[in-house]
Amino acid sequence: MSQLLFEKNIPGSNAFSLPEIDIPAVDLAASLPDQFRRQNQPGIPEVSEVEAVRHYTELSQRAYGVDNGFYPLGSCTMKYNPKINEWASRLPGFASIHPFQPEDTVQGALQLYCEMQQMLAEITGMDGFSLQPAAGAHGEMAGVMIIKAYHNNRQDYARTKMMVPDSAHGTNPATANVVGYEVIEIKSTAEGLVDLDDLRSKMSPEVAGLMLTNPNTLGLFEEEIQSIAQIVHDGGGLLYYDGANLNGIMGVARPGDMGFDVIHVNLHKTFATPHGGGGPGSGPVGVKAPLMDFLPVPVAVQREQGYGFDYDRPLSIGKVKSFYGNFGVIVKAYAYIKALGAEGLKEACQHAVLNANYLRHQLRETYNIPIDRLCKHEFVLNSKKQSQYGVSTMDIAKRLIDYGYHPPTVYFPLIVPEAMMIEPTETESQQRLDVFVDVMKTIAREAQDDPEIVKNAPHNAVIKRVDEVTAARKPIVKWEAP
Ligand SMILES: Cc1ncc(COP(=O)(O)O)c(C=O)c1O
Repeated sequence: MSQLLFEKNIPGSNAFSLPEIDIPAVDLAASLPDQFRRQNQPGIPEVSEVEAVRHYTELSQRAYGVDNGFYPLGSCTMKYNPKINEWASRLPGFASIHPFQPEDTVQGALQLYCEMQQMLAEITGMDGFSLQPAAGAHGEMAGVMIIKAYHNNRQDYARTKMMVPDSAHGTNPATANVVGYEVIEIKSTAEGLVDLDDLRSKMSPEVAGLMLTNPNTLGLFEEEIQSIAQIVHDGGGLLYYDGANLNGIMGVARPGDMGFDVIHVNLHKTFATPHGGGGPGSGPVGVKAPLMDFLPVPVAVQREQGYGFDYDRPLSIGKVKSFYGNFGVIVKAYAYIKALGAEGLKEACQHAVLNANYLRHQLRETYNIPIDRLCKHEFVLNSKKQSQYGVSTMDIAKRLIDYGYHPPTVYFPLIVPEAMMIEPTETESQQRLDVFVDVMKTIAREAQDDPEIVKNAPHNAVIKRVDEVTAARKPIVKWEAP
């Protein structure tokens, strides 16, 4: 374990030198009342410039990102972000504007906003978008608030429940709950798809809608989506699309055409802007025409005299983010969409699907794939074959770290025991995938011949096995001076 910068403190060390002050010094703190004045020095570490540089360089080298190597994190989609998008978002005209600037001085940014709304509407088959939400889960919340506002506006207050499949991402039930709905779980069939009979039996005048992702969290396309939409609509509910898996259908199929009424899109998953560490992300929310009035306020609009923000929307769910969303992230996604164009987006989707199916095919002999059928951009295997040697999915994931990989998502979706969810994304070459396959096969051999090496992995990482529960529930996130 290396030390924190605080622990590298050498009193008297200094990473800067300022010229002697040549004007009279003013003690600003002296004018503050005593109770607001600091009693002790702040305890900022004293280190030399070279030590500060080494400290942060070392930390940066420990971080693993998609720029370091293969990062097949299923559902979380660690997609490569072309560097030109970074360049675009740093153009001074975008990077240096201030959200309080008058609209007539930021017409270009507003134009980008409006065009982005239109492009997302076209890609997803929706009628309108707001770019405000700051992440997927945040977009979900805005979308479900829109569903609630829609029912309330019709004085339909009886709809107090939201349906969510048992395969759903945890943010779906959490969102429904936060917005005030009771969550009803819909079962999956043995094929991993929504059980239509269960759905039918649970649809009622108390149900506000169904939250669904398609392809679902097993990477499988919900083939009965039109029947699903009909059951929900016939019962007076609305269909919510969790767009986190849009990568698997982008340019080929559109949620709007499948019958979805509200959608969020994770720009940081589908449209190649950074994703990780909780943000900054972007989760635009889109709606069909009857729900346009409920979009978060303000909505970027094009008027005869130029672009601007429309605040005059009495039915809006209100503001969900300070200012107008994570603008830099939106610029990156805009650049990505423009660079690829319609054909390019479709190709990206097709390569993502091809890569996932290639890996599934190459690994099916070695690992158990509970639902082994054509998938979209991700698939799920598990450690059933390795469990006879006492090796779990967690062990395999930890062993992958030794081989220099970021492990795939594990223990999700919950409906697959010991799940390992692999999403290769479209930018990985066949050579890269083949090396990963070799490593996965090597680990399977190790599990058989020398299980302890897998069970005690990682051997090469700075931090070995942690107590995951304590780490999640009682993280120590601050340093106390001794
Ligand atoms: C299926 C699904 N839905 C929703 C989300 C939430 O997105 P975000 O992480 O941007 O909040 C995720 C995140 O990985 C996801 O995989």
